[in-house]
Amino acid sequence: MQDLQDIIVSDVQKGVLTITLNRPEAYNALRTNLLQEMADTLDAAVLNDDVKAVLVTGGEKVFAAGADIKEMASLDAVGVMNDPRPTYWRRINAFPKPMVAAVNGFALGGGCELMMHCDIVIAGDNAQFGQPEINLGIIPGAGGTQRLVRAVGKSMAMQLVLSGEFISAEQGRDFGLVSEVVIPERTLERARQLAEKIATKPPIAVRLAKEAILKSYETTLDSGLNLERKAFTMLAATEDRNEGIAAFMEKRKPNFTGK
Ligand code: CAA
Repeated sequence: MQDLQDIIVSDVQKGVLTITLNRPEAYNALRTNLLQEMADTLDAAVLNDDVKAVLVTGGEKVFAAGADIKEMASLDAVGVMNDPRPTYWRRINAFPKPMVAAVNGFALGGGCELMMHCDIVIAGDNAQFGQPEINLGIIPGAGGTQRLVRAVGKSMAMQLVLSGEFISAEQGRDFGLVSEVVIPERTLERARQLAEKIATKPPIAVRLAKEAILKSYETTLDSGLNLERKAFTMLAATEDRNEGIAAFMEKRKPNFTGK
């Protein structure tokens, strides 16, 4: 992989790869290079069996303040049409292993959208969420009008997108954007704890569970239930399922191998 400028990627520890957004001078604004580095890192992580889960954080003070407005300013309509960013977002979205976000401070615009690409969000009580694109004469462009409404419902999605107002971590939790709120000093630790726990679970079951849950965004209940049943059936052919059941019977800890 090329030298990374905009993110820091840790060594894999206890099955968890940590990606830290690293543009403190710009509130971790998601310039194109940052998104490309994330997409490349995740593509490599798909192929690395040691990576069982990914932790995404912006550090202690801010998650990300959105697309880089200074970079965006130079693009006209043709530039936006030819922008490679949507391809990077698609690659991030296609990452099949679990992603846990540790969010302190602002998660705005593309930052809120990146957070919504993650499967579980742990937020510090200083977090603020918003889609303030309306103040720039634009609208969210990386899922903010689609994922947000599925996460928080129509009225709050409209409120955030049309008014540009921010909501607090507690409101984010009440509306389902976030699963837990902790003190900011604990955000990364709690998110890491969860990612490490998930990393001990049977990887094929984890992957199929993620796929089935995400499918519920896009399908009817009946086809979602069909997909769930097929995945459930497929898991009966895995060694990890035999191991999980045997371990329960023998009153011992399971040793999952991903087979
Ligand atoms: N892009 C580029 N630079 C940004 C940025 C962004 N999104 N957000 C903050 N910065 C930079 C500021 O320009 C500033 O840099 P300088 O010191 O060099 O001027 C530095 O980060 C600190 O910012 P502020 O001085 O503004 O800090 P603040 O504490 O007063 O305010 C803030 C913080 C509320 C996050 C404010 O910076 C802000 O409103 N940022 C923009 C948020 C936004 O509109 N996001 C949506 C972007 S569009 C988008 O995201 C679309 C998409 O993905 C498809």
